[in-house]
Amino acid sequence: MINKIVMPSNKIEGILHPPADKSISHRAAILNSLAEGQAVITNFSAGADCISTIHCLESMGVITESSSSPGETDQIKIISPGIKNFEEPSDVLNAENSGTTMRFLLGALSVTPFLSVITGDDSLRNRPMGRIVAPLTLMGAHIVGRNKNTKAPLAITGGNLDGIEYEMPVASAQLKSSLMIASLFASEKTTIHQPAKSRDHTERMLSAMGAQFSEINNVIEITPSSKLIPININVPGDISSASFWIVAAVAHPNAKIRLNNVGINPSRSAIIDILRTMGGNISLENTRTAGGEPVADILVESSDLTATEVGGDLIPIIQDEVPILALAACMAKGTTTIKNAEDLRNKESDRLNTTASELSNLGAKVTENTDGLSIHGTGYLNGGSARSHNDHRIAMTLGIAGLLAKNVVTVNGAEVVDISYPGFWRDLEFIAYQQH
Ligand code: S3P
Repeated sequence: MINKIVMPSNKIEGILHPPADKSISHRAAILNSLAEGQAVITNFSAGADCISTIHCLESMGVITESSSSPGETDQIKIISPGIKNFEEPSDVLNAENSGTTMRFLLGALSVTPFLSVITGDDSLRNRPMGRIVAPLTLMGAHIVGRNKNTKAPLAITGGNLDGIEYEMPVASAQLKSSLMIASLFASEKTTIHQPAKSRDHTERMLSAMGAQFSEINNVIEITPSSKLIPININVPGDISSASFWIVAAVAHPNAKIRLNNVGINPSRSAIIDILRTMGGNISLENTRTAGGEPVADILVESSDLTATEVGGDLIPIIQDEVPILALAACMAKGTTTIKNAEDLRNKESDRLNTTASELSNLGAKVTENTDGLSIHGTGYLNGGSARSHNDHRIAMTLGIAGLLAKNVVTVNGAEVVDISYPGFWRDLEFIAYQQH
């Protein structure tokens, strides 16, 4: 286990290119593999989660050709026989730490007529899969697993799926996407009712690939598609990764940074709106479209932050930003409340608990509630030692806390940033300590 010692920073300054979007990279690899043919993905995420997806796809006969060395994946070519010609994997598929890999592949493996078994690391084997297994079973897939078929390892035999009408119990992009994948290959149309909007990268990409579906008032109706066309994709930078630097800059008294080529899809960018409401000095330049997604360069400067309230339909679209938002709230004036966020307990760690306990270890005043957090902003963090709980977003939040705290912060389990952002510690050094 690696312990990272982060010193307070006098100045946060520089230009960064945040890493490739993890959600879009997973989709580019998986959705293109459903189609027969070839697609080139540029700026594919080098994070361990997306590598897990690639390994699983390769186990089913998808060929991938990467143009750079492992850990620095940039361009990747997907050559697929199409889902109808996937091979039965000869061994257990391992999604490692990646919920997106497991949930998307459960949808795909429900279509394929062979037996497959999928597992993951300690964290993923304890995350809820029943929310996916239930509707896929209703469609006709045979899925068994631990804990009454709700936890991995899960064994799946797919094929001959029926269309269903389904009310999703949680607003989850992973659940929605898994069902959309299965529905494309069912015998009749499927209707999915979502309680609220979640990230829409799957819809954007499938629509560009020729899939037939409609979405009105959070109801998606999918018509089975006989043919999907592979598409080349240039993946934008990840707004969830960029958020760490955005908060570092708004919360630091001497900061000015630029983040180039970041995805600002409205179903992901609520963190910018919330921080602006809190007084964040954030502006967008060069707004454009790339790979079917809105992209911009983000300029951020030191700001005087005040508390806010976040809940309801905003929660599904700031799923991954709550820990870093909580840190921003520690540095703001007043008490910030985050409500309706109980599903954060089902992430790589129980993020309500790990955010509250680890920020408190550094001297913050954060209370954990059943469905959220109350953060009493003091504008001050003492520093100290805190644990990542093997959760990449907690590790990065603690790293940024180290730049803002009075004293040194030691992040135990710092290597977990590799899940989504292998260059995080290098970028932190660059932006916080180098003379520019
Ligand atoms: C993701 C969806 C979110 C998010 C995860 C990635 C995706 O999970 O937390 O990191 O790529 O679809 P849920 O769909 O479970 O909310």
